[in-house]
Amino acid sequence: MEQFLYETLPFILGLLCVLLCYLYYVHAYNRPQVNRNVSEDTDAHKPVKEQQVLKVTSKPKKIPMVKKKEVKDTYSHPWLLFNLKGHSGEVLDLDFNSNGKQLGSCASDRSIMLWNVKAFVEKNPRSVRNNIEFDNATQIKWSPDSKAFILSLEVANTIQVYKVVKKTDGSLGNFEMILNFPTAHKADIINIGIACNGHFIMSCSSDTSIIVWDLKGQILATVDTLHINNYYACVSPCGRFIASSGFTPDVRVWEVCFSKTGEFKEVKRAFVLKGHTSGIYHFCFSNDSSRMLTTSKDGTWKLWDTNIEYSKGQEPYLLKTHSHGINSKCICALSPDGRTIAIASLTASDVFFYSSITGDLQAELKEIHPDPVRCMLFSPDGQYLIVAVGKHIRVFHNVPGFENIILGLEEAKRNATNVSMKDRLQSQILEAKAILNTFGKTS
Ligand SMILES: *[C@@H]1O[C@H](CO)[C@@H](O)[C@H](O)[C@H]1NC(C)=O
Ligand SMILES: *[C@@H]1O[C@H](CO)[C@@H](O)[C@H](O)[C@H]1NC(C)=O
Ligand SMILES: *[C@@H]1O[C@H](CO)[C@@H](O)[C@H](O)[C@H]1NC(C)=O
Ligand SMILES: *[C@@H]1O[C@H](CO)[C@@H](O)[C@H](O)[C@H]1NC(C)=O
Ligand SMILES: *[C@@H]1O[C@H](CO)[C@@H](O)[C@H](O)[C@H]1NC(C)=O
Repeated sequence: MEQFLYETLPFILGLLCVLLCYLYYVHAYNRPQVNRNVSEDTDAHKPVKEQQVLKVTSKPKKIPMVKKKEVKDTYSHPWLLFNLKGHSGEVLDLDFNSNGKQLGSCASDRSIMLWNVKAFVEKNPRSVRNNIEFDNATQIKWSPDSKAFILSLEVANTIQVYKVVKKTDGSLGNFEMILNFPTAHKADIINIGIACNGHFIMSCSSDTSIIVWDLKGQILATVDTLHINNYYACVSPCGRFIASSGFTPDVRVWEVCFSKTGEFKEVKRAFVLKGHTSGIYHFCFSNDSSRMLTTSKDGTWKLWDTNIEYSKGQEPYLLKTHSHGINSKCICALSPDGRTIAIASLTASDVFFYSSITGDLQAELKEIHPDPVRCMLFSPDGQYLIVAVGKHIRVFHNVPGFENIILGLEEAKRNATNVSMKDRLQSQILEAKAILNTFGKTS
């Protein structure tokens, strides 16, 4: 017996070895693939740690699983502050509340997210997320008091009002639907808006209609824009006007009139922006409604002075125009102070910055994503440009805006009549130049 054992032991041990190797192999093979490309992920600090773990561990069991991502976001740029991540479908619309501390976003995965962006310097701002039942929200707009927001729904093709629940510490809580407007548009709703004075809500569809509603969802007026097709419409930041553009080469501006006691009177024609030679894809206002920016199929953008008394016969005045060189649908954004212009094609992911002081191209952000830009806006303090592109919301420093602030300060310095004023402006110029330097730019 002993003899037999001595003779077969090496063989049995060998067999065991082979078996163990086999088991190990099967185990390793069936284990989910570990993404070894994690360090390519630019925004994550965690994956770097996980990669270090990969190096020191030899036992496959201990390797932490890395959640698979469909497409890795490897974009980086010195002006990129961070990405707001959380949507898993294409981001469709963005809106800041009136004090600029909260951003709302909606996406084609039925999700709505509200972001606490009080200070953009705090990375990873806190957010709340909720889904719309059986529908996508295509537009989002905050109510003037930031206690609610309205959405336009893709399938229902109407407006819903949501109440935002604030937590006791003032941070954002969840939100719930409180009102569903009747369906009234025959064509798809392309934009919505709320007047900052809380007097009315506007919705615009891709045919030629605009509906003016009261806050309870009653129709106050229906406007036929006569654009053949509407491309865009919005409420002016001052809450007095609605404006629309479309296939025809003009922007039409209406005043929504209320009596002193707040009763709706009428929607009457105010003024028209005339000068483009083709349809106007998009336009926007400066924050005090004194400037308007338009971008057209004719290959140009135009900046207008709309600080006029139209009832006395004053016409909007064309301040600047420049070719944007985009031969597809494009959108624009105007910084709150009206000095910086951003233009992007809806079929590409490049963003172009122009100065409205000089009219010239200042900078471009090339190919910021594999998907095209969907919408963009400047933060209310003018310091950032926020771009919705694919599933991402990219927050960029508005570096061209600093250059334009310097141009403005230099002009004010030339105008200044005394030494102390000149000195104060000079130190502000130096401060702004120092900020520019941190982005590798000199002015
Ligand atoms: C990492 O992934 C990127 C794209 O996701 C790819 O271009 C690159 O070749 C990959 N690198 C390695 C080392 O696999
Ligand atoms: C929301 O939009 C996505 C992408 O366009 C689409 O796949 C999905 O069916 C839509 N959901 C609803 C409920 O319409
Ligand atoms: C517009 O924006 C500028 C610059 O951010 C700010 O100083 C000004 O107060 C804003 N005006 C309004 C009406 O919001
Ligand atoms: C400087 O003066 C010119 C005309 O004298 C005026 O048009 C411009 O608005 C002034 N600029 C500033 C920043 O005060
Ligand atoms: C200097 O000029 C500014 C306007 O340019 C004026 O507001 C200020 O009062 C002046 N200061 C003195 C000391 O004259």
